[in-house]
Amino acid sequence: MARFQPRGTTPAIRRRRRLLVRIGLAITVCLLIGLFTWPSASIFSLYSFGLFSSGDDFQLETVRYYDLSNVQGTARGWEREERILLCVPLRDAEPHLSMFFSHLRNFTYPHHLIDLAFLVSDSKDRTLEVLSNNLEMIQADEDDLQHYGEISIIEKDFGQKVDQDVESRHGFAAQASRRKLMAQARNWLLSAALRPYHSWVYWRDVDVETAPFTILEDLMRHNKDVIVPNVWRPLPDWLGGEQPYDLNSWQESETALALADTLDEDAVIVEGYAEYATWRPHLAYLRDPYGDPDMEMEIDGVGGVSILAKAKVFRHGVHFPAFSFEKHAETEGFGKMARRMQFSVVGLPHYTIWHMYEPSVDDIKHMEQMEQEKLAREQEEKEKAEKAKKMKEQFGDTASQWEKDKSEMHNIAAKEGKKETVETTPKNKVADGQAVPVKAAGAGEPANGQTKEKAPTKDAPKAAQEKGAKKEDRKI
Ligand SMILES: *[C@@H]1O[C@H](CO)[C@@H](O)[C@H](O)[C@H]1NC(C)=O
Repeated sequence: MARFQPRGTTPAIRRRRRLLVRIGLAITVCLLIGLFTWPSASIFSLYSFGLFSSGDDFQLETVRYYDLSNVQGTARGWEREERILLCVPLRDAEPHLSMFFSHLRNFTYPHHLIDLAFLVSDSKDRTLEVLSNNLEMIQADEDDLQHYGEISIIEKDFGQKVDQDVESRHGFAAQASRRKLMAQARNWLLSAALRPYHSWVYWRDVDVETAPFTILEDLMRHNKDVIVPNVWRPLPDWLGGEQPYDLNSWQESETALALADTLDEDAVIVEGYAEYATWRPHLAYLRDPYGDPDMEMEIDGVGGVSILAKAKVFRHGVHFPAFSFEKHAETEGFGKMARRMQFSVVGLPHYTIWHMYEPSVDDIKHMEQMEQEKLAREQEEKEKAEKAKKMKEQFGDTASQWEKDKSEMHNIAAKEGKKETVETTPKNKVADGQAVPVKAAGAGEPANGQTKEKAPTKDAPKAAQEKGAKKEDRKI
């Protein structure tokens, strides 16, 4: 039919086309205005845009194309400009923030390739304020190399009712519900901050005290899907100097699997508590300070202090279960889930970072007691010294009297050595002084053991005395 259409109709078709383009443009402008006015509607707008412009050669600045095969994560990501999303959950973290930013400044991985994402939740202190100040400072640093990439701060409360003090946080009863809430927090943070251009996700706690500056490259080099270092903590000397800290990185054991089978569907096993004796090999306990830091160990549960994971692990749907997944939740459940989906999950037993030491209530009590004992001891010593001083004042200078007596007796002893005939008087004197025979023996101390052995025991003082006298004679 179209073949027989007269040519004269072409302008009409053109007109229709022009009209269509005009309507299209009008709608586009409306959508763009809408996009800026109601940003929350942006996803819908973009979607309709895509439909509308399909087949046309509109180049839309608001459409981004991502090839996710480029963000898989490789062993030397810094050379390929792979971006890392650094996720930091925060809760009443004000006291630790300056230390955390000191770590941030020291990271050797190119800062502009790292995006920061903070979740501030259930905080009663000035976490948000101090965080903002620190961020402003580092981003305004005169050294451009200090500046980080994009920064997101997400605020959301999860109703953590457990007190944040060390005792309640680590008490057994609180663990399961605490871990489930932590899991939700991590998922919210990640889903809000993960962008298509991230190749890696690094989870880091704020209360890490010491870690190598190269930790990101060190972990990345292993090219694993999920990898964690060993986490210990320093202790005061009276508690042994150091201690394994993160017991959530472990390998599954038969005992634990059998235990899991006996538990309720919703139960959550938490490691490091006597209530659940799992007999699992813990990454923490396998540390050898002189071991090869590159040694790897396959693990099933992972601790959350410092996790480097490829972003694709999360894109595949692995997350931090806020429910009982294989009888585990949060990071331990995450490790199990990643394994279940055939991802590699490893720990480095001899590569150690150090968590801060926060004294427990018992530790604080003990330290107070030690402090009191120390004070009591000092007080006692002070009193003793004062008593001695008083005695000295009351009874004269006993020490100088003693010296006088001693030299007198020494003279007598010397005399006695020369004139052996006079015996009675000096002997009495000697008995008074008591120290004289010893002194004499000391003066004539045998130069070698032989002489000593030869001298008959019974007459030893006398023999020595004689010898001493002789020696003295020779000297004079
Ligand atoms: C960062 O590096 C500086 C300089 O080497 C050092 O003094 C500081 O302790 C480091 N910070 C941390 C948290 O390790």
